[in-house]
Amino acid sequence: MEDARRHYLDLIRHDGVTLSPELARAFATVPREVFVPDGFHRRDGRLVLPADPEFLRVVYSNDVLVTKLSGSRPISSSSQPSLMALMIEALDVRPGQRILEIGAGTGYNAALLATLGAEVTTVEVQADVADRARSALARAAIDGVRVENADGYTGGPAGAYDRIIVTVGIAGISPHWIDRLLPGGRIVAPVEHAGMHPVLSAGAGGEVTVVCPAGFMSAAGPLTARHPGSHPPPPSEPLSGLDPAVPARWGTTLEALAYRDLWFAAGVWHRRVTYASAPGREQSLIAVLAEDGPGSAVVLPDGAVLASAERCAAVALALADRWWAMGRPPMRAWRATLASAGGPILVPGPWRLTRP
Ligand SMILES: C[S@@+](CC[C@H](N)C(=O)[O-])C[C@H]1O[C@@H](n2cnc3c(N)ncnc32)[C@H](O)[C@@H]1O
Repeated sequence: MEDARRHYLDLIRHDGVTLSPELARAFATVPREVFVPDGFHRRDGRLVLPADPEFLRVVYSNDVLVTKLSGSRPISSSSQPSLMALMIEALDVRPGQRILEIGAGTGYNAALLATLGAEVTTVEVQADVADRARSALARAAIDGVRVENADGYTGGPAGAYDRIIVTVGIAGISPHWIDRLLPGGRIVAPVEHAGMHPVLSAGAGGEVTVVCPAGFMSAAGPLTARHPGSHPPPPSEPLSGLDPAVPARWGTTLEALAYRDLWFAAGVWHRRVTYASAPGREQSLIAVLAEDGPGSAVVLPDGAVLASAERCAAVALALADRWWAMGRPPMRAWRATLASAGGPILVPGPWRLTRP
């Protein structure tokens, strides 16, 4: 067990995450297995039960553990540990802070926050999931976490918070959270952008920066309201009819993070950008979908464009060229301000580029 835990920290760090000594201690001491007592599904759908010989090895891997499905769709999980670490570091947690978490799930993330010395209220929309999180926190002997069964949009029980962390994909920020945030407070949340949920950090004045790329399951209720700036959701089927439209053009193949930087910029510049899979390709691709009808185009990491509609190919090429000509800005260089989208949520925009 000691070895599994030590290896766990290495796996989290291996993903490029720097852990503060306090967070490393929290990951090393909170028993993740206590939060998945009935087993879980792996990314590939395989069920792992506590009696399986590989149970503890997978629990202490850097992977998401899916704990509830609706059909084949994950509706609750313990998120990927390196992503939890990036979000917690971005939250800048100090002992004694009051933290509101939206999406209790297994309760594991709330346990890490409490171990850092915070006083945590975590809100979970599914009553059975909230009950299980409460039991797990009690079994793990974690103090300082209150689990509430409610839609997190409302901000949960009355109270003011130093930090708000959202661990489910949302389309925008609830104005109720801004009302609950103390001066100098911070919200860290995965907010929909071009088919994914990059993690954003918002200050009490509404100023927004980008923390890291991510993909999350979508929230229930008003937190996923569509708005005029919404991109199309990722198509459920691989795109079809794609033919070579533009050959490779950069003399290099973008590595995964740089490809995400291009994707983020393309999503800022065009409303019809999303992520899609294509036949024979393992990796999801940056896609431009036609406004009306089935036409589409994808940009490959070497700058080549495949398309089923000429006008989509032209847009995809223009977006890729613009990003390249601007010196390949990273997603962390974008800034925005939260504004009303005319519906129940606040969304970041307009995005502007700054050099860090
Ligand atoms: C990825 S899991 C959260 C992971 C969790 N923090 C953990 O450590 O295990 C997302 C959770 O958000 C919950 N959720 C979805 N929509 C919600 C909403 N509107 N309000 C509160 N919780 C919500 C889901 O039921 C699910 O349990």
